[in-house]
Amino acid sequence: MAASNILLLALVALSFTASLASDQSPLQDFCVADKTSAVVVNGLACKDPGLVQADDFFFSGLETAGNTSNPFGSKVTPVTAAQVTGLNTLGIALARVDYEPWGINPPHTHPRASEILAVLEGSLQVGFVTSNPENLHITKVLQKGDVFVFPIGLVHYQRNVGTTKAVAIAALSSQNPGVITIANAVVFGSKPEIASDILVKAFHVSKEVVDYIKTKF
Ligand SMILES: *[C@@H]1O[C@H](CO)[C@@H](O)[C@H](O)[C@H]1NC(C)=O
Repeated sequence: MAASNILLLALVALSFTASLASDQSPLQDFCVADKTSAVVVNGLACKDPGLVQADDFFFSGLETAGNTSNPFGSKVTPVTAAQVTGLNTLGIALARVDYEPWGINPPHTHPRASEILAVLEGSLQVGFVTSNPENLHITKVLQKGDVFVFPIGLVHYQRNVGTTKAVAIAALSSQNPGVITIANAVVFGSKPEIASDILVKAFHVSKEVVDYIKTKF
């Protein structure tokens, strides 16, 4: 096979992968979600375009800090297709994140989105961990105005390392990024729970330790 053909095949393969990795491209100007429709096809059915209004594309309130009085000391205020029906099929979303001093946004992943986070106030230590077998911990301390990227699917976190409140805005490459909080959702807080003997072997700890942690969720 000629080198140019191989190159072409590689390009086709690459573009195919890329198109699978993000939300579907809309085939119309917009598809404002009709939350009352029983039809669901990788997103929500479209509202009659003739009935669409500016408010379908609108969200208000991101100037207000989230309530961080919780064990994490952080609060995420999401703006996804669940809040703004006009985001349906568009493949983007936004969130405001507030952090108390030393508050954390605990390790989690977004199964459907990469994330780009901008610090508006304060200082954040951020990090993500790469896939097996390397499991490299990529981490950095960010100041106001700094931006950091969390690649799709990778476990990541933020921690306020300043003495004042911190605020960040995150943009995500899905209308419905999804959140899997590692400790709660997957490991210790699933319903019904994962058998303790599985967690004992996975975490190299005793059943007493596993059962104790499970009581916290
Ligand atoms: C913040 O959340 C805490 C805990 O749920 C609650 O007690 C408190 O009233 C909330 N504060 C505001 C201003 O909503």
